[in-house]
Amino acid sequence: MTDLARLVQALPKAELHLHLEGSLEPELMFELARRNGIAIPYDSVEAIRAAYDFSNLQDFLDIYYVGMNVLVTEADFFDLTWAYLSRVHDENVRHVEVFFDPQGHTDRGIPFETVLNGISRALDKAEADWGLTSRLILCFLRHLSEEAAIETLEMAKPHLDRIHGVGLDSSELGNPPSKFQRVFEAAGALGLKRVAHAGEEGPPAYVHEALDLLKVDRIDHGNRALEDGTLVARLGREQMTLTVCPLSNLRLCGIKRLEDHPLKRMLALGLRATVNSDDPAYFGGYVNDNYIRTAAAIDLNADEIIELAKNSFRGAFLPAEEIERHLAEIDAVVEGVSWRARWAVARRCARYPFGIRGIRPAPNLYTARKPVLGAEHAGIDFDFDHGICVAGIDRSGRGAGQSGAGDPRPYSHPGHAARSGGGRFERRRAGRCQLRAGYDVRREHVRRKSHPIPVSGCQSGPRGFLQCRSDRG
Ligand code: ADE
Ligand code: ZN
Repeated sequence: MTDLARLVQALPKAELHLHLEGSLEPELMFELARRNGIAIPYDSVEAIRAAYDFSNLQDFLDIYYVGMNVLVTEADFFDLTWAYLSRVHDENVRHVEVFFDPQGHTDRGIPFETVLNGISRALDKAEADWGLTSRLILCFLRHLSEEAAIETLEMAKPHLDRIHGVGLDSSELGNPPSKFQRVFEAAGALGLKRVAHAGEEGPPAYVHEALDLLKVDRIDHGNRALEDGTLVARLGREQMTLTVCPLSNLRLCGIKRLEDHPLKRMLALGLRATVNSDDPAYFGGYVNDNYIRTAAAIDLNADEIIELAKNSFRGAFLPAEEIERHLAEIDAVVEGVSWRARWAVARRCARYPFGIRGIRPAPNLYTARKPVLGAEHAGIDFDFDHGICVAGIDRSGRGAGQSGAGDPRPYSHPGHAARSGGGRFERRRAGRCQLRAGYDVRREHVRRKSHPIPVSGCQSGPRGFLQCRSDRG
């Protein structure tokens, strides 16, 4: 893993522009087609991937609507959503705001509730299991009529506890935002947030319309806004979030090469740009791939990457205090250890879903997947601020990442004194140590247990945690 990839992995992130139906991987498409007895025009997963060669948005949409035909039952929508959430959970994404296209399903006779129940069950489970929060955004298909959009909004009305906003997607050219002014007005009156794809292929005038007529809270894409200086000034002044999707822009030929992507320019112009994956199964990359490949192609520096991660929370439909908490968490990751150390730790570790104090996710804790002292579901957390590592039980029961003690420097505390109620580690040789006496994560008293991670001195923490000082370096 490169330093860039380690940094991107280490940063907490939100994803604000993701079409759930666009996260349908060929393998799952094949499986669902078989499960539901649906014919698809491909005879192998490879043939599906080979078909993903697009010249523009419409090329993609033609295939995208065929692909979603395999989604029939509530379980299918759950599986689709769960696969996406599992993937981004592993990428250290903390919050997602996801689109779904109900008209792509109700027009095939799938009840609105089947779609919504499957999706929301997965969203609820991700929050319960991992603390991964979400918002669901219902998109109107803009190639259909406004009347059809109004009917869809009517279907959504009994379920507004689970739907946070409305969006506008599908074929942009020839379907300007003005076509949907009434339905967006109605959605606003219901208290829903409003977003719209604009300036993906359409001209800057469409972005103006989305702002003035649809009164959107965010612009999805917005690339072509850069052609209009007045519009750029306004987007900057209003700190309007742009949900930019670099790999999507590349695969749909909005740009010829990733090196031509305007993301760096957007940041330099003071625009609140974010990085997102759009339809990752079709465009060859989830959110971290979008950060990493784009940063490499257009030479984003660490500050720009951090700003993009922060923007993802600033633009989220979350309460202000939650946004602040996420921003503080990014600061803690950034400030807690040196770059080298942070990258080294991130290489081996992934986010721990709940914190050392057991109250909220601690901002600077990372967990290793490897069982500690043989206890099931145990992990090691690293506290960047205090140079300690913390053993604990992974609430999700599956952990995320690999074991490791991180870079030596931030953990090179030589103290050996056992703290009250805890035990004591003694290093035997590089890379190993032994617990001489103390309590393991199951709170069982242990003696002379071999421990794969060099730590020295530990204490029992809250809720069965074992805190240990690292003895590396
Ligand atoms: N629906 C799914 N992906 C889309 C995109 N990139 N643009 C417009 N509509 C979409
Ligand atoms: Zn999109």
